[in-house]
Amino acid sequence: MAYTKITKAVFPAAGMGTRFLPATKATPKEMLCLVDKPLIQYGVEEAVAAGCTEIIIVTGRGKATMEDHFDRSPELEASLEAKNKTALLEIARSVSKLAKITYTRQSEPLGLGHAVLQAKQIVGNEPFCVLLPDDIVDASIPCMKQMVEAFYETQSSILGSEVVEGDAISAYGCLDCTPDPKNPRLLAVKTMVEKPAPGTQPSQNAIIGRYILTPRIFEMLEHITPGAGGELQLTDGIKALLQHEKVYGFSYEGKRHDAGDKQGFLRATVEFALKHDKLGPDFRAWLKTFPL
Ligand code: G1P
Repeated sequence: MAYTKITKAVFPAAGMGTRFLPATKATPKEMLCLVDKPLIQYGVEEAVAAGCTEIIIVTGRGKATMEDHFDRSPELEASLEAKNKTALLEIARSVSKLAKITYTRQSEPLGLGHAVLQAKQIVGNEPFCVLLPDDIVDASIPCMKQMVEAFYETQSSILGSEVVEGDAISAYGCLDCTPDPKNPRLLAVKTMVEKPAPGTQPSQNAIIGRYILTPRIFEMLEHITPGAGGELQLTDGIKALLQHEKVYGFSYEGKRHDAGDKQGFLRATVEFALKHDKLGPDFRAWLKTFPL
């Protein structure tokens, strides 16, 4: 049976965001704003653009503002309506209309593989997307949309991938792979390793925070043991999946920002501000006058 439809996207969002302290002491890192939108909303919009209608957010303690963000806000809407602020009213309403959003909890921080496993009952027996909200991909065709096309073509799990320089690979899952002769964006994966020690990496092909996985991944995730950093790693689950099914890396078209890192977040902020319809022109003019 060929898969012809992917409608669900899982967002692991239970992490403590320690790289962003003190900003993330009481605010979920997924709610940090790039210009005027929280990180997680960029990801949700990308999943919706790829055809997803059901979003599953795996949360933990202290993440309630995320739920409020995607919910209706009757007081705010009433106040904007009374003041006839229709454009702002539309912005506020459109967030709650993006998709059907379900929340499930990861009660212990046991790792990314464990976080994805928490979505098993809600996803059921279907292929699904996984988006890590820290990774923001700026692309003319949304990254997940490109990957969904590749999934329909291969009928196999697809991992977003990009080449990173030198020892930077040690911060990522790394693919041992060969390019597909028919589609140069596809990389046939032989095996993979999470956060290889510098000098031991099989390639410079990193996994980025975009995945499309077949439902068999849940069976694999139920049996993995702690890996890199003592955590239950999604990479190890996908490596186990390789024993049963093909898996492809996908070199997407676009630019990724690691918004989970302070430096990456600042760079993304400047680039997104420059591209912003309304704010961009003034911001560009101001930047040019800035004494560097
Ligand atoms: C996670 C994954 C890793 C992947 C990375 C992409 O790592 O475990 O395989 O390369 O996301 O951002 P983390 O950044 O959570 O350490």
